[in-house]
Amino acid sequence: MANLKGKDILHANQFSKKDIEAIIKVASNFERELKKKDSLTLLKGKILATLFYEPSTRTRLSFETAMQRLGGGVISMGSVESSSVAKGETLTDTVRTVSQYADVIVIRHPRTGSAREAADAVPIPIINAGDGTGQHPTQALLDIYTIKKELGSLKNLTISMVGDLKNGRTVHALAELLSLFDTRLYFVSPSSLRMPEEIINHLKQKGIEIEETEDMLKAGNTSNLIYMTRIQKERFTDLSEYEKLKGSYIINEEFLKKLKKKITILHPLPRVDEISTDVDDYPGAAYFRQMRNGVFVRMALLSMIFGKR
Ligand code: CP
Repeated sequence: MANLKGKDILHANQFSKKDIEAIIKVASNFERELKKKDSLTLLKGKILATLFYEPSTRTRLSFETAMQRLGGGVISMGSVESSSVAKGETLTDTVRTVSQYADVIVIRHPRTGSAREAADAVPIPIINAGDGTGQHPTQALLDIYTIKKELGSLKNLTISMVGDLKNGRTVHALAELLSLFDTRLYFVSPSSLRMPEEIINHLKQKGIEIEETEDMLKAGNTSNLIYMTRIQKERFTDLSEYEKLKGSYIINEEFLKKLKKKITILHPLPRVDEISTDVDDYPGAAYFRQMRNGVFVRMALLSMIFGKR
């Protein structure tokens, strides 16, 4: 069983295949338990704090839901503008302050490496909910959980990651986790938004089969699953470059008709225009089920961090 008791969750690389299998098992148990009752008392008396320096809907709310379903309490810094960050308080001072009130902190921040910086400043566990273009490890874990549920197995898969692979922290983290399962990966992006070289090199060192292409149809036709991502406007310093690249890849009914077989489609969301709403009723469109799975996986992580599973 994975020992996450008292640990930070900062990077996908910290997990072994055995850890992931254990997290999937615990998450799956919580999913079953929540069918029988609305909430549990496992973390009664524990407090989770959410510190989001960047916008979020799913990650913040699913962590807050997970903690409350486990019987714990939640405090939130709210928006940057409404907190003392607006007065110039540093990240270190803010997490030191919050660590006086909470037992675990979930943090999202625009700077890569910020979650580690927070973890170094305080003795309580820090969970990285996205550090700039770096990592989003809990998203990757819920993605893996979803892939296993949707496809039945993590063995012998070919997965296409499509869109903004340069700036997408979700694909950076997910590619690392999938490499533990010997997944074949297609990286589909415009040339200026390719997966960072250091990630590709790391995956190749682990013996993972990778093909980079700009052709989503070719990749989709030989894949079990397409993991679609948004072109991340907020990461562009030159907005004219964003305007040129937005809409580079779109999954719509027309695209689905060109595919030779049914495919599973995931997206960390939010979407802009890269998955048309006419795809939402397609049986393989699993992105709404994916976001729901976030609650079960985050319940598993929180219970394991507190040594309760
Ligand atoms: N997938 C994800 O991180 O969504 P939010 O930005 O809404 O948290």
